[in-house]
Amino acid sequence: MKIFLDTANYGLIELWAQTGLIDGVTTNPTHLSKESGDPVALIKKLCALLPNGHISVEVTEVAPERVYTQAKTLAALAENVVVKIPCHSDYFPIIKKLVDEEVQLNITLVFSLMQGVCMSKLGVLYISPFVGRLEDLDVDGVSLLGELSDMLDQYDYETELLAASIRHVRHIHAAIEAGVDIITVPPTVLATALNHPLTDRGMELFAADWKKLGIHTFP
Ligand code: E4P
Repeated sequence: MKIFLDTANYGLIELWAQTGLIDGVTTNPTHLSKESGDPVALIKKLCALLPNGHISVEVTEVAPERVYTQAKTLAALAENVVVKIPCHSDYFPIIKKLVDEEVQLNITLVFSLMQGVCMSKLGVLYISPFVGRLEDLDVDGVSLLGELSDMLDQYDYETELLAASIRHVRHIHAAIEAGVDIITVPPTVLATALNHPLTDRGMELFAADWKKLGIHTFP
């Protein structure tokens, strides 16, 4: 399973990249709005930082023909850019055109099984169901992950399932159980998921016991 970082913060991505755990990054206009400087320069820096990872960058235009042109321009920024386009019916013709032109697409704001089926049918690289935003409306976002995972297996589509809008550790575990290909996780949630109080306590106990021996060099 791949782990992406759900942020546009260069410093945090650089820190996590050193762990060897990070396979890519998902940005969106909200993430980019929190960072200073030129967003294009930042995207290029992120692409250079993780040359073997996919960096998702979302379109900001609205009219389909402008979204198409912007998608081509974003894709040309670096080989590892994946263009995010919302799963809206206005964009289906251009999504098809971009797939035919081999532009790597991450279809974002996916909230239903049928949206996922249709985008996979068009041959996009990733579909991103938003778990947390469904749960904000008291709808079971985790079940959607399982349904999409089964659907991709059932029809043997090549599209990969990217669990997004992950808000806490329980979402991460549920996404793994649902068999998703990728989870995109905010850095704070990833840090919480990887730390455990019993690991900390165990290290303290071992250190205290070892200290009793009074050995300074080992081995
Ligand atoms: C990632 O691709 C999404 O943009 C992100 O996960 C959205 O998360 P949010 O619903 O917490 O804003």
